[in-house]
Amino acid sequence: MPPAASTDPPRPQAAGPCLGHGIGLRRAHWPALLDDPQGLAPAAGVDFFELLTENHLSPGPGRRAARRAAARRPIVLHGTALNIGGLDPLDRDYLAAVAALAHDTGARWISDHLCFSGAHGEAFHDLIPVPRTVEALDHVSRRIDAVRGALPDVPFALENPSYYIQYAGQPMDELTFWQRLIDRTGVRLLLDINNVYVNCANHPGGDPDAFVDGLPAHAVQQIHLAGHTDLGDVIIDTHGAPMIDPVVALYQRVLRRIGPVSTLFEWDNDLPALPVLLAENARARAAAQAVLGPAGPGGRL
Ligand SMILES: [Fe+2]
Repeated sequence: MPPAASTDPPRPQAAGPCLGHGIGLRRAHWPALLDDPQGLAPAAGVDFFELLTENHLSPGPGRRAARRAAARRPIVLHGTALNIGGLDPLDRDYLAAVAALAHDTGARWISDHLCFSGAHGEAFHDLIPVPRTVEALDHVSRRIDAVRGALPDVPFALENPSYYIQYAGQPMDELTFWQRLIDRTGVRLLLDINNVYVNCANHPGGDPDAFVDGLPAHAVQQIHLAGHTDLGDVIIDTHGAPMIDPVVALYQRVLRRIGPVSTLFEWDNDLPALPVLLAENARARAAAQAVLGPAGPGGRL
């Protein structure tokens, strides 16, 4: 007699594929990661590279490094200049350049942030949160459709940024805004676990467990992990330190719920020597394996 079929509901799954554990490709590490004649040895334990999109758009050393990286590992692109929440028209030249870079590197997906980063043609060089209003939801939804029209061949994800201000009278909390945006547009989510922790610590009523539990699993394309700086009365998302244990625990909570997800450890300020970064990447992998096992069901860890 065949075993009775399980009546358990299937576990929700993140958007695939799971590329494993990657690091951001920073110029200081190019020689070790890209120029070493031994090939992949210095990057042992790195399953993919995330490129900061704007550093590789133009012909020159950045573009050549992107091509060398793509020859060694899968590539994902992560930008800051899209200005998806802004009121200026989307920059068609920028989108065309991103499409060319994605094609050149075989990028598995591209991402930017749910924010506005410029106005009246001027870049803020900062990621300002989008007001969580119905009007902003409509506006961002239209622009997501436009971006996907300009980049039809590669999945598109938005990251939950850290923020330090709250607009008065917002009718939606952050989770509700994300749920509605994903439901309406199908946009993928680059879930930054450290940003969830930082935002929930900095703003009244924040509940990181409830936030990650409420996100649609199928939308999660990638995860970011990072360290931050706790100044006592505020936590700053500095990307300049190892991750703290509560962020690791939140990461494991997400994986327990939705299975393997491509995970990147971000370190941008006070960039350490490569072995330090690789050690943090290995720590993230160990945390994932502790939850999902060495191979991970349905994808690599
Ligand atoms: Fe991030």
